[in-house]
Amino acid sequence: MCGIVGYLGNGNAKEIVLDGLERLEYRGYDSAGVGLFDSERKTYRIFKEKGRIDDLKRVINTESAAAGIGHTRWATHGKVTKENAHPHTSRNGRFIVVHNGVVDNFRALRSEYLDAFRLESETDTEIIANLFEVFAAALPVQDAIREGLKRLEGSYALLIMDREDSGTVYAAKHKSPLLIGSAHSGVVAGSDLMALADHADAYLALEDGTFAELRPDGFSLYDLNGGALDYTLREMDAEVVESDKGAYPHYMLKEIHEQPIILRRILDAYTDEEERPDFPNSVLETIRKSGRIHILAAGTSMHAGLVAKPLFETLTEKPAEVHVASEFAHHTPLIDSDSLFILISQSGETADLRACLNRLKDEGYPTLTVTNVRTSTLAREADAFVEIHAGPEIAVASTKAYSAQIAVLSLLAHAAGASGMPMKREISNIAQSIEKFLEQADAVHDHVKSMLEGKSHAFYIGRGVDHAVALEASLKLKEISYIHTEGLAAGELKHGTLALIEEGTPVFALISQPSTALHTQSSISEIESRGGRVLTIGTEDVAEEAHIALRKTHPLLAPLVLVVPAQLIAYYAALELGNDIDKPRNLAKSVTVE
Ligand code: G6P
Repeated sequence: MCGIVGYLGNGNAKEIVLDGLERLEYRGYDSAGVGLFDSERKTYRIFKEKGRIDDLKRVINTESAAAGIGHTRWATHGKVTKENAHPHTSRNGRFIVVHNGVVDNFRALRSEYLDAFRLESETDTEIIANLFEVFAAALPVQDAIREGLKRLEGSYALLIMDREDSGTVYAAKHKSPLLIGSAHSGVVAGSDLMALADHADAYLALEDGTFAELRPDGFSLYDLNGGALDYTLREMDAEVVESDKGAYPHYMLKEIHEQPIILRRILDAYTDEEERPDFPNSVLETIRKSGRIHILAAGTSMHAGLVAKPLFETLTEKPAEVHVASEFAHHTPLIDSDSLFILISQSGETADLRACLNRLKDEGYPTLTVTNVRTSTLAREADAFVEIHAGPEIAVASTKAYSAQIAVLSLLAHAAGASGMPMKREISNIAQSIEKFLEQADAVHDHVKSMLEGKSHAFYIGRGVDHAVALEASLKLKEISYIHTEGLAAGELKHGTLALIEEGTPVFALISQPSTALHTQSSISEIESRGGRVLTIGTEDVAEEAHIALRKTHPLLAPLVLVVPAQLIAYYAALELGNDIDKPRNLAKSVTVE
């Protein structure tokens, strides 16, 4: 979703800000803009454009800039237009602002302070810039900005430039992430570590309600009353710095191929040499003490939750339920008082989950976040967090984070329970099976050409955890190929959807569960006898004849292997159609609005 970057230092601000914005492209956006202090003209310049960063680059005619702020916008309120793109300026042009987040009370602020102002855009950000201008009429700049900030309700990460002082950029954060890095020459800020990666050795993730003054030689941190705050920088994470595509044509393909390495990394992180699980005792005790586990998540992470549910139920013998975060936040079911909430989120920033977390904290339930981003809001605000160690995931379509979430949750359920399952060995064998399978990725490409060419509808079917994988497989296929795909419980097919099966309708059948393999075979017969074209994906033990056969694994962990061909099917389908695989239309990597 929206991204922000800023830099203050030598004359490279234009390059550093644009590079940062490009590194945030993966989050999804539909317009972009920069505000630069042009070192030659000694003036501020603003450039905005609809579309891609490349379109923006074409209109920038500033050569060298000492300071700059930039933004990628994913439209939520107000159309995708150049006027609505950031930066926004105050009426007299003094304050130039980029903003992530949503100001809930912007209408009230407008009528209280800005009645006489003519606004250029439909955004809440323009209100913020003007609010600073109003207070700056009577106050020194820092006080004016703080007075403005104190009146904002909602979420914001802000970078602010003041035309009266080209040697300073201000930063402020509340409920939207913002990080400041000490750059090799100057100071860099951004909404995502990725934007800082190449330019900073160390960084600070700002806390809510803090305000920073950035200068070329460093930065000072304050609370909203102007009280100075101490801080310690954290060393830049090596894996973030190394996140480029390497030899792969797309991040998605690279991330699919990284899965075996990540499974092994997770085993190293969470098991000891004697194959015993190694999680903080406090986390395990919270699980053991709970009477019921509620898993909350969105999108692919929710699908990982569906796989984790039977693992928790089997290994800890506690009932587990999975909820879609956007539903749970507003239609909360009855909850037992001894419930534990596990929030799964790759980014750790999903707004629907943050809404749930606030509520759960108010009501005093224990919360545990399982995330890929240790500096994220959900990691910081839950009672505890467990990292999934997938490394930065850049493709919008999540792949490696899904398998990392399942692996970590399996180990966690195993550690909290008392089963004799050799979990470490199982996951290590799975890593090997995936590696082996990926050697024949080209065969999947051939299947895709013969199954999906010219098709605009497809189905995935499965039972039990195969159904959970069918949901994820169908999400993957639709989100990057734009082929309408449904994931169905195989037994439900005959209760309605069978009406859609006609000559050549593509159906992918997932078969890895010994207890239901025969039932799924019956569903396949029903499809084939109506002309549907079925491709079977299964484990050798229960689906020997499968078109795509994978090595046998523990049935509860089968999703880890089964999902890989499904990810490749989506990838090759999108490739054949010439789609923008890593940045599918209309979607954002991290959805920070409810
Ligand atoms: C967006 C992404 C999905 C992701 C979902 C949940 O929709 O495009 O890939 O699964 O958000 O995100 P989270 O970061 O909470 O896992």
